Amino acid sequence: TLTQAEKAAVVNIWAKVATQADAIGAESLERLFSSYPQTKTYFPHFDLSQGSAQLRGHGSKVMNAIGEAVKHIDDIRGALAKLSELHAYILRVDPVNFKLLSHCILCSVAARYPSDFTPEVHAAWDKFLSSVSSVLTEKYR
Ligand code: HEM
Repeated sequence: TLTQAEKAAVVNIWAKVATQADAIGAESLERLFSSYPQTKTYFPHFDLSQGSAQLRGHGSKVMNAIGEAVKHIDDIRGALAKLSELHAYILRVDPVNFKLLSHCILCSVAARYPSDFTPEVHAAWDKFLSSVSSVLTEKYR
C-alpha cells in the first residue's frame, strides 16, 4: 500500500498528466507495441499503426481508468472492479503484460515531465501502477 506521501506524489503528478492524458495514453501504447510486439496479439482487431484512431481511442480509455484509480486512491479495487473482471474473465490478458504497459506509461510520463519526475515521484508512480496492475490481475486464480 502507498504511504500518504506517495499518494500525494501520485495525485500531484496526475494533475499534470490529466491535461495530456489522451496523448500520453496513445504514446504509452505506441511504446508497448513497438518495444514488446508480442503484446499486439491481444489486439488483432485493431489498427495499431502510429496515431491510428483506435490506438488513440484506446489510450484515452486506459488513461481514464488510471484517472479513476487516482481519484479513488484509497479504494483502487472498488474503482476498477469491473475492469478487473473484464481483463481476467473475458480478455484473459497474461499478467506479465501489465508490467510492460506500466513501464511504458511510466516512461511516457517521465519523458513529458522530466523535471517533475524525481526519484521520489518515480517510485510513487511505479508503486501506484503496480497496485493498479495487481487489482486488474487478482481475479485470475
Ligand atoms: C480494454 C484499461 C492493461 C488489453 C480496456 C479498457 C480499459 C482498459 C479502460 C476498455 C474497457 C471497456 O471498453 O469497457 C486498462 C488498464 C490497464 C490495462 C488501466 C493497466 C494499466 C492491459 C494490458 C493488455 C490489455 C496489459 C494487453 C497487453 C486490453 C484489450 C482490451 C482492453 C485487448 C479490449 C480492447 C477492445 O476490444 O476495445 N483496458 N488495461 N489491457 N484491454 Fe486493458
